[in-house]
This record gives sequence, C-alpha cells and structure tokens, in this order.
Amino acid sequence: MLRLFSPAKINLFLKVLGKRPDGYHELSSLFQTIDLGDFLTFSFHSEDSLTCTDPVIPIDESNLISKAIHLFRRKTGIQKKYKVHLEKNVPIQAGLGGGSSNAATTLWALNQLSGHPATTEDLQKWSAEIGSDIPFFFSEGTAYCTGRGEHVQSLLPQPSRSCWIIKPSIGLSTPEVYKRLSAAPLSEEVMRRDDLKAFFSEPYFYVNDLEKPAFALCPPLSALKDSLKQQGFDVVMMTGSGSAFFCLGDGRQAVFGENLFACKAHFRNRKAGFWY
Ligand code: C5P
Repeated sequence: MLRLFSPAKINLFLKVLGKRPDGYHELSSLFQTIDLGDFLTFSFHSEDSLTCTDPVIPIDESNLISKAIHLFRRKTGIQKKYKVHLEKNVPIQAGLGGGSSNAATTLWALNQLSGHPATTEDLQKWSAEIGSDIPFFFSEGTAYCTGRGEHVQSLLPQPSRSCWIIKPSIGLSTPEVYKRLSAAPLSEEVMRRDDLKAFFSEPYFYVNDLEKPAFALCPPLSALKDSLKQQGFDVVMMTGSGSAFFCLGDGRQAVFGENLFACKAHFRNRKAGFWY
C-alpha cells in the first residue's frame, strides 16, 4: 500500500497571451504548490476501485484519477488493477488544481508500485494528454508554465511563505471562465514578452487575467476580493480560473465569513526523487 500527499497549487501570476487556433489559450504563468492537499492511498486489487471521502466528487471514469490509471496502462502496457482511496481536502471548482494534482499523484504512485518503468519526464509528458495543468506537478513545485500550461520550466523554490486560501461556496467551471474571456488571437509580439522577469522586478507584479471573466460570470467574487483586501493583506489574487483566492501578507486580524472555505497554507516544494 502506498499513501501519498497530493498538493494544491496557486498561480502567483497568470497571463493569457491570446487565443490559439486549437481553441486553447496561450498562457504565461508562475505556479506554486502549497501544503493544502489531498491524500491518496493506492494498492493492487482484482479490479479497479475508486472511493472518496467526499460524496460530491464523481468517482466514475470522468475522474482524472481513472483517466491517469488508463493512461499509465496504455503507455506502459502494464495491465494491473488498482484500489484507490481519495481523502479530499482541496475544494473543487476552485482553480487550486486539485483534480490535476490527483492525476499527477496517481501516475507517480503507479510508476512507483510498478518498479519505475517510466522516468519523471515520461510521466510529465504523458500527463499533458489528459489535462493542461497536470505536467506542472512533476516539477519540484515552483515552475513557469507556458503553452496550454503544459510547457514547464522548473525554477528554484521560492522562500516559503504563508498564505490564506479563501473560497466562496460557489465554484467556477474552467471552460465557462475561458468562454467569457475576450482574448485576441495569439500574436508573435506577445509571445516574446518576458513576464517572468517582469514579475520578479520589485514589487512583485501579481496579476490574473482570468479574474475579469470570472467576476463577470460571478459578480459577488469582486466584492469578496475587495472585502479580503480590507482585511489588511498585501496581495489578494484569484488562483487559476477561480473561484478561490490566495491572500499574502499580514492579515492576522482577518475574520472570514461563515460561508467561506478558509485555510492557512504555506508554499511547499518536493525534493528530486521524492513526492511532495
Ligand atoms: O486541459 P484542460 O482539460 O484542463 O482544460 C479544460 C478547459 O479549459 C479546456 O477545454 C479549455 O476550454 C480551457 N483551457 C483553455 N486554455 C488553456 C487551458 C484550458 O482555453 N490554456
């Protein structure tokens, strides 16, 4: 039996560079894993079985864990069956990458249980076939991601910082948020910009181009961002396609509404050769 942590992520910045001919959006984003996460338990079994502590999570073939198991079988030819249990802590439809992280963790676990038939680079490359955000989790937790999100440039870990993760009860669908975005067709000019350098020039340039369409889809999110800023945080940004926010800085006096998911978290990286 193998029990692994499956971390959530935040996007320290997320810029949408334009719409691509294939319908996806070209991104430029700095991703960071945090210590809010799920736990996954894996063992060999006579048939595939997926269970979850949260009854709201679909445990059928649409779950990215099931898709990762099929992907691993297809790529390696190893036809074993698995029993998987998911202890769900990361809110869904939050932009925290919970499902993508579960898929990456599954590929890592199956590879470990099978005696490492694939390299980490293989797993990273294969994972892009089932979701744009999954390859990031095979970095060591801090990475600059471009393309659909699947081109991952690993960076040295940031000094660990604490943050608050806040999510309203309403969640957002990623495709719906992208549909609301009026992105121009991708041009060579925007591709040449150095967003990473711009971010690290003091003060850090926090931005998320998906906030505008997310707020248009769900207007109360804008008021939530304003109220969080009034709590004294230096930075309040939506992560990914929302609806969760991360808050950095001194918000120790913060009092959050009852209907909000609120969790203190920290940046968490992994060491090469180990999972998170
Ligand atoms: O790749 P993934 O399945 O996670 O993407 C979900 C949806 O989000 C896509 O179908 C697309 O509508 C949108 N998306 C996008 N551009 C990206 C990533 C996702 O338009 N870079």
